[in-house]
Amino acid sequence: MVELGVNIDHVATVRQARKTDEPDPVWAAVEAELGGADGITFHLREDRRHIQDRDAEVLRKTVAVKLNMEMAIAQSIVRIARKLKPDQCTLVPERREEVTTEGGLDVIRFRRRIKEVVKQLKAVGAICSAFIEPIAEQIETSAECGFDAVELWTGGYAHARGPRAVRRELERLEDGIATGHATGMIVHGGHGLTYRNVAPIAGIPGWGEFNIGHSIISRAMFVGIREAVQEMKDLLILHAPEETS
Ligand code: PXP
Repeated sequence: MVELGVNIDHVATVRQARKTDEPDPVWAAVEAELGGADGITFHLREDRRHIQDRDAEVLRKTVAVKLNMEMAIAQSIVRIARKLKPDQCTLVPERREEVTTEGGLDVIRFRRRIKEVVKQLKAVGAICSAFIEPIAEQIETSAECGFDAVELWTGGYAHARGPRAVRRELERLEDGIATGHATGMIVHGGHGLTYRNVAPIAGIPGWGEFNIGHSIISRAMFVGIREAVQEMKDLLILHAPEETS
């Protein structure tokens, strides 16, 4: 059964709009766990626009499920990750002008630096995952760099319009899962997944985990985080492929 990682950055975004102490992403993590989240995901960005160092430290001390830190490959962030020791580190591209992480990390272009970062993170016991587009060469290079997992960017699917485009993106993801498994890695997925579009993706066998943020936190404004997470978990169970359900 695919696991659900809940990205809580948006809770910190609301707090940072006033630079006050509420809402607390640490409370959000507790509520998400109570709703059945298998993991808590946060992104400590270099510009600290949402999650702060204090959040990362308290999350490390309080989260009982898998703690997944999304992070850039910058040395200042790697240093923090090595001290924090999250269960999983997901390397992502980071540009200051972007609203959220757009597209995947170019593992081929930055392979030398990335190999070094993976080595440093694995040395402190973290599972290493690369957030990449579902492109065979990127997946194969990720395996060469020593990653344990890849998180395939599902934004192409989420943004696809029309049944043919959607079918094509689903096939790209299926191929990506096969390539990932063939190279011995676990395959995760994330970005742009919502209550409305998750069913076809959830029906594909072979996923390790999904990381979902925006849609769950948006729904939580109306029903609360615990309920919103439960609803997404129910959808994943409902649409799970037969062999894994
Ligand atoms: N996975 C990764 C690596 C991400 O960077 C993000 C966005 O922060 C997500 C998953 C979640 O994306 P969304 O907020 O669109 O669900």
